[in-house]
Amino acid sequence: MTEILQAMKERRATKRFDASYKIPEDELRAILEAAKSAPTAFNVQHWRFVVVQDAEQRAKIRAAAWNQPQVEESAALIVLCADFKAWKRDTSRYWAGVPKEMQDKYVGMIQHFYDGNEQLQRDEGIRSCGMAAYAIMLAAAAHGLQTCPMDGFDFKKVGEIINLPEDHEIVMFVAIGKGSEPPPPHGARLPYDEVVLRDRFA
Ligand SMILES: Cc1cc2nc3c(=O)[nH]c(=O)nc-3n(C[C@H](O)[C@H](O)[C@H](O)COP(=O)(O)O)c2cc1C
Repeated sequence: MTEILQAMKERRATKRFDASYKIPEDELRAILEAAKSAPTAFNVQHWRFVVVQDAEQRAKIRAAAWNQPQVEESAALIVLCADFKAWKRDTSRYWAGVPKEMQDKYVGMIQHFYDGNEQLQRDEGIRSCGMAAYAIMLAAAAHGLQTCPMDGFDFKKVGEIINLPEDHEIVMFVAIGKGSEPPPPHGARLPYDEVVLRDRFA
């Protein structure tokens, strides 16, 4: 528990990575497997993680990301994408392995909850990827690696570069690697009493 809290407190958005560091495939897989255990509403798991390591792809993405070095210097650039129609794609597999009655109940609830509500379908995908992004950051920390969450890029251009399918949207990047210099000074966090409210807004 203490280690989790320490990782949360010590995590920083890392701007420069050691470009010579290669992440072992099993380590990258362990990080993404851990992220996959993050929660999603009705267990729909809207996330798709595009792992970009190809040099040509990374150069193109960097050009679409204000030339930010993290895109090329990190060991893996994860493009988190949400499938807004995940709720209706072979829905029963989200509840595979549970008693049939329970599976049918959940499949019915999922249809009822999302059908016809485009805003909710989209919001849910964004929520799921937000969960996954932070999970990736903490799992990477557990492997002694640093990360940078990113949305400073042209979403449309990056979508074209990664061949984003219809009904999917890019939510953000998480760059993973070995930090090569200390992060710049930390921005101020808002006071506790401004962000924590009791029972209702005043
Ligand atoms: C959704 C999101 C998008 C971000 N985009 C970028 C980015 O494009 N480039 C960058 O250097 N940092 C980016 N950041 C990092 C933030 O600037 C950073 O998390 C914030 O200043 C707090 O600093 P800390 O993460 O070191 O605590 C992003 C963070 C989040 C959560």
